[in-house]
Order: sequence, then structure tokens, then C-alpha cells
Amino acid sequence: MFFQKPLLSWYDVNKRTLPFRDISNPYYTWLSEIMLQQTQVNTVIPYFKKWIRAFPSLIDVAIASQHDVLKQWEGLGYYSRCRNFHKASQIVMEKYHGKIPSDYEQFLALPGVGTYTAGAVLSIAFNQAIPAIDGNIRRIASRFLGRKKMSPNAHKRIVNFLQNEIHSKRPGDFNQALMDLGSIICTAKNPECDKCPIQINCKAFKFGSPEAYPEKIKKKKSPHYQVAAGLIWKGEKFLIQQRAENGLLGGLWEFPGGKVEIGETLEEALKRELMEECKLSPKIHRKAGTVKHVFTHFSIEMNLFHCSVDQGQPKTDLPFQWILPKETDQFPFPTANHKLFKLLEQDGWTI
Ligand code: ADE
Repeated sequence: MFFQKPLLSWYDVNKRTLPFRDISNPYYTWLSEIMLQQTQVNTVIPYFKKWIRAFPSLIDVAIASQHDVLKQWEGLGYYSRCRNFHKASQIVMEKYHGKIPSDYEQFLALPGVGTYTAGAVLSIAFNQAIPAIDGNIRRIASRFLGRKKMSPNAHKRIVNFLQNEIHSKRPGDFNQALMDLGSIICTAKNPECDKCPIQINCKAFKFGSPEAYPEKIKKKKSPHYQVAAGLIWKGEKFLIQQRAENGLLGGLWEFPGGKVEIGETLEEALKRELMEECKLSPKIHRKAGTVKHVFTHFSIEMNLFHCSVDQGQPKTDLPFQWILPKETDQFPFPTANHKLFKLLEQDGWTI
């Protein structure tokens, strides 16, 4: 055991106060760990609080509609997390009579649960000595063990190391102590080694270049797309469409439109997309606004055009609605759409 004692002593003094901590409620632990995947603690806190007000227990999630759970998740991103959590809550009701399974294989088999989440939830909520290895913890272990390359072998070494180190009586605290150490002290850039409780045995510290661990994988430059979308008016109402359930932003609502192809103008792309997607050929009036949005693997510039149709309905397999501007708050929309709503609030919604 190299560091469980100094790590836990440090945690007892320095741990962050978080609304999902130190409450014995496996539902809170599970929800928070799903929200915390790829998302910073400070972003998660208000969403977590709002969610448990709307759905105080897991059964409330299970009986809610997908529309209502997505509305609560709106703005947090990676919406498949929400759809999976919703499905998983229903499985827990049906298969496990509402009791979250504490068996590793059973919990791991639930939608949206991977080895990290299983380790985090079972250690924190059920006191099981299972490491939870996310990017932060991998970084700490890489530095501590002086392993620069994150090969499958190095990963195995880290798993073994943490399985030996984890505190058998306080496994949840052990995992969370590493999480806090990774966000407060052993950060990717400018780690504060002089404040670190496990500095003495840290190889990267000894070698004098902790920041170089682990070796960074060069990221591909992410592509940028132009998107054209229509604010298609029919009288006082405009058209919104629901995205297909699976895939990016699945189940959320949006203005119809799509990607601009090479050689097309924005208007040409919009006409083509509206014909392909919903067999509509509205009159295009003027640009309503442009916003940028960055996703994990690409970025977009979304150009919204005021359009109008006199009559007719879109012909599409996807659900659609004609809504009033004041009704936008009843539907979950992607953040890029909210940016456009903000522009329209400022400039006026009318053509
Ligand atoms: N990041 C992911 N899970 C966490 C937790 N339980 N505490 C702090 N940070 C986290």
C-alpha cells in the first residue's frame, strides 16, 4: 500500500462539498455519476438539483416520458446519457423490483453503465472495493507509476495497482479522493505537486516532469460545417421537428434543415434539405441569424432563415409540430437552437 492512508487523510480535510456526496442514496450516486461523465462538477450541480426536484426517486424517472426527462437534461449535452438512464430506470423497476442492483455484472449490464460508472456507483453507494478509473484517475496513476504511454498493458498495470491500493473499508471515499485530487491538485496542466499528499512516492514528480505524464495523444482537427435551417412560418406558428431517437441529440426538437454541401449557397442547401427531409418548398425570406456551436468532434455554424408556407403539412417520418414562439419552453431543444432563440428574442421573431 503506497498511498491509501495519506490520500484518505488528505480527503478528510480537503474534500469538496457536493450535493450528491455523503447522502446514502444509490439513485443520487448513479444519477450524479452519469451526469459527471464528460461534464465538469460545477456544470452538473444545478442540473442535479433541478433533476431530483423533478424526479425525487428512481420510480419518478421510470414513469416519466422521454420528453420530460430530456427537458430536464436540456443543455447538459450528450443526451444518450439521459435516454439510457431513463431506459435503465425502467429496467430496474421491471427486473429488480425498483432496487438498484448491487451485483457488478447486473449493474454493468444496464444501458449507459460502463466499467467506470459501475466502479464509482458500487464503491460509493454499496461500499464495494472496485476502482473507478476515468481520465483523471488514469492521469494520477500514470504519474505515480511513471508510465508515460497509455498502452493496454499500462492500463492493466493501473487497474492492478488500484485494485491493490483501494481501501477495503472506505472504497467510495478512496475513489472520490482520487477524483478530487485529480481536479484540485494533480491537474493536467500545472499540477501543484507541493500540495500533493502522495508526492513522496510519485515517479513523475521524482523525474521532474509530471506534466509530461501521460503522453498526449494528438487529436485530429475537428471538421467545421455550415448548416442551413428554416424558421418556417405558417401564420403565427412555425415548424419544429423531432430528431430521430438514436444518434446525436436524439429525441430533441429543432428547426428543419441540414448541412451545406460543397458548391451550394446557404439558400440552395436549405431548399434541398427541406425538400429531401419534409417535401416542403417554402418561400425563403431573409436570414434570421447565425450562431456557432462546438460539439466534441466537430463544430457548426447554423444559419437560420425566415421562410413561409401558405398551407400544407411536411411529409416526414419524424414527429413535427407547429408552435408559437412562446411555446418553445415546452420542448427540449439543443443548445444551438437556444442561441438562436436568444437572437430572435432580441431582434423580434417576426419576418
Ligand atoms: N467526477 C466523477 N464522479 C465524481 C465524484 N463522485 N466526485 C467528484 N468528482 C467526480
